[in-house]
Amino acid sequence: MNKGHHSEQIILSVENIHTFIGQFHILEGVSLEVPRGSITVMLGRNGAGKTTTLKSILGLTPPSSGKIIFEDAEIQGKHAFNNANLGIGYVPEHRAIFRSLSVMENLKLAERKRGDFDRHAKFIFDLFPDLERLYKLPGNHLSGGQQQMLAVARALVPDNKLLLIDEPSEGLAPILIEQMMEAIRKLSTTSTVLLVEQNFIMASQLAERFIIIDDGKSVQRGLMKDLVQDEDMIHEYLGASIHARKTEVSHAAKK
Ligand SMILES: Nc1ncnc2c1ncn2[C@@H]1O[C@H](COP(=O)(O)OP(=O)(O)OP(=O)(O)O)[C@@H](O)[C@H]1O
Ligand SMILES: [Mg+2]
Repeated sequence: MNKGHHSEQIILSVENIHTFIGQFHILEGVSLEVPRGSITVMLGRNGAGKTTTLKSILGLTPPSSGKIIFEDAEIQGKHAFNNANLGIGYVPEHRAIFRSLSVMENLKLAERKRGDFDRHAKFIFDLFPDLERLYKLPGNHLSGGQQQMLAVARALVPDNKLLLIDEPSEGLAPILIEQMMEAIRKLSTTSTVLLVEQNFIMASQLAERFIIIDDGKSVQRGLMKDLVQDEDMIHEYLGASIHARKTEVSHAAKK
């Protein structure tokens, strides 16, 4: 096998990581691969370990064993600051912005190098025009959806090769979900995205590949187009509500 070629295609490889938070053994064997230039979605029930997986990759909750390979470098055990500098951007869940600071200050503070914001301002404002209009307002004057856009935009200020995005659609109105999906689709053309997304419809429309985390372990992975056909797998790992909605959709399609 041509290993060099393989590693060019895979930007991130996580091999059997275990992560403890305090005395709790939260991740008990998570493995995944993210191909460069793709959108990969991580699915799983509440409390399955999705956020902890993203934090373990970045180094915020370093794994106690296993390997994390980013662009041929082993990064498990490295500090989050180091990993961010390699080009890994992170959008935490629940709209992590500085609420008392303006939109502009939020974006400026996300710089890794002087001039990062200026270089990417046009790209960011094309994706999220609201942010240009509101850029002097403090974060807490923004709607929930606009705050979410700002949280994503902050990860686009420095040059990032890989974006870890945790539940960008959380609490968004349908129209804003559309806008967020469009933005993620566009930024996947210049970067690579590993996304946590509970909204299965959104996940299935965006991602080429999926990983399912269940009870701290990665249990399934594959192509999204195969998962949407697999009602048993959706039912087993993602819960009955998605199953019901999927059934409605497929009934509607048959009419
Ligand atoms: N600081 C912590 N201390 C103790 N347990 C924690 C801590 N953070 C997370 N956990 C536990 O780890 C498990 C995984 O949490 P995690 O946040 O990774 O799940 P998740 O898949 O992102 O869930 P959700 O869909 O609700 O965001 C959960 O059982 C959670 O209770
Ligand atoms: Mg989470």
